[in-house]
Amino acid sequence: PKKPVKVLVTGAAGQIGYAIVAMIARGLMLGADQPVVLHLLDLPVAANALNGVRMELIDAALPLLRGVVATSDEAEAFKGVNVAIVIGGWPRRDGMERKDLISKNVTIYKSQASALQQHAAPNCKVNDDASRIRKYTISMLKHYCYYGTVKKKRARTDIYSDFAVQVCTHEVLVVANPANTNALVLKEFAPAIPAKNITCLTRLDHNRALGQVAEKLNVHVGDVKNAIIWGNHSSTQFPDASHATVSTDRGERPVRELIADEIWLREEFVTDVQQRGAAVIKARKQSSSLSAASAACDHMRDWILGTPKGTWVSMGVYSDGSYGVPEGVFFSFPVTCEKGEWSVVQGLEIDDFARSKMETSATELKEEKSIAYEFL
Ligand code: NAI
Repeated sequence: PKKPVKVLVTGAAGQIGYAIVAMIARGLMLGADQPVVLHLLDLPVAANALNGVRMELIDAALPLLRGVVATSDEAEAFKGVNVAIVIGGWPRRDGMERKDLISKNVTIYKSQASALQQHAAPNCKVNDDASRIRKYTISMLKHYCYYGTVKKKRARTDIYSDFAVQVCTHEVLVVANPANTNALVLKEFAPAIPAKNITCLTRLDHNRALGQVAEKLNVHVGDVKNAIIWGNHSSTQFPDASHATVSTDRGERPVRELIADEIWLREEFVTDVQQRGAAVIKARKQSSSLSAASAACDHMRDWILGTPKGTWVSMGVYSDGSYGVPEGVFFSFPVTCEKGEWSVVQGLEIDDFARSKMETSATELKEEKSIAYEFL
């Protein structure tokens, strides 16, 4: 049996937290055969509600759930965690300036970065070791395949593959807004954690984009793939369907060919995806939580277990300058994932329209960064 993975969920008494914990404990994030221990963090004012969540998790009798730590103490919550889903933060209130939102969250993320660095599983810090151990595992396996008995081989496979999995699961996903800039603060103040291990959530926007195309074409959402969210998880994001495809009876067809309406693709589709969060708030009087929790599971599952062949997904990652995007900000790109590592899909054609949309979002991210630095 696999060793349990310790998963931290911050803001666990909140709306998304309430929706996501059972999804994780049902294997939707890390796989149906991966036991988990949930570490739940929320503020002291939410301690009672958090305890209620813990009680409900026990009542749900979830076989993969090997333990729950519910606490308002950061050190206790971050202790030994392999995976962190960071949802807790200062919420945006009516009339609150963007600057105020950033300043409130900068303080939180600065402190959580130290907690993460200090208390998370030591494997959170050993990116290089992960690949070294992976190589070692493979060489051990080859060795035993050649010399060993089948029994011995199996024993070694279990030990080393288990170890490699443990070492490779050191992923941090920031959901709380402003997600890209919170991820940046976390990265800046946890320098021992490789930037590659910190990402932010734009998968909800990505899934919304797939949903909009599916509705427009009246096809199943599972047949639509390779939409892209470029930029910030904010209203400046650029939802791009120009590389997306749909599986049809006649094979895979570009969305652009099936929806010949360029105006819909450039205007209505873009605005609908950008404004979908606001539309949900208007309808529900609360922000998206079920879909956000589901998207966070999709994000982590694809990151850790890999994206299907020929499919990419959108993830907010630390920019390496791909597509002329400035370095030093967390920007949403199309990525593929393999063996726990993401990489930006390269070589996509970017027309002038897309370029200007991407620049607008990059400019906003640079502004957010400088506001954040004012408070650091
Ligand atoms: P919520 O207000 O229901 O829950 C937030 C929880 O975080 C509360 O229980 C609060 O007590 C807790 N919290 C606040 N500060 C904390 C701290 N320092 N440490 C630990 N816990 C803390 O909010 P909801 O709806 O669950 O959303 C959570 C965040 O996710 C918000 O920032 C929201 O804007 C963001 N969000 C991001 C999305 C994305 O696609 N990236 C989508 C939807 C929401």
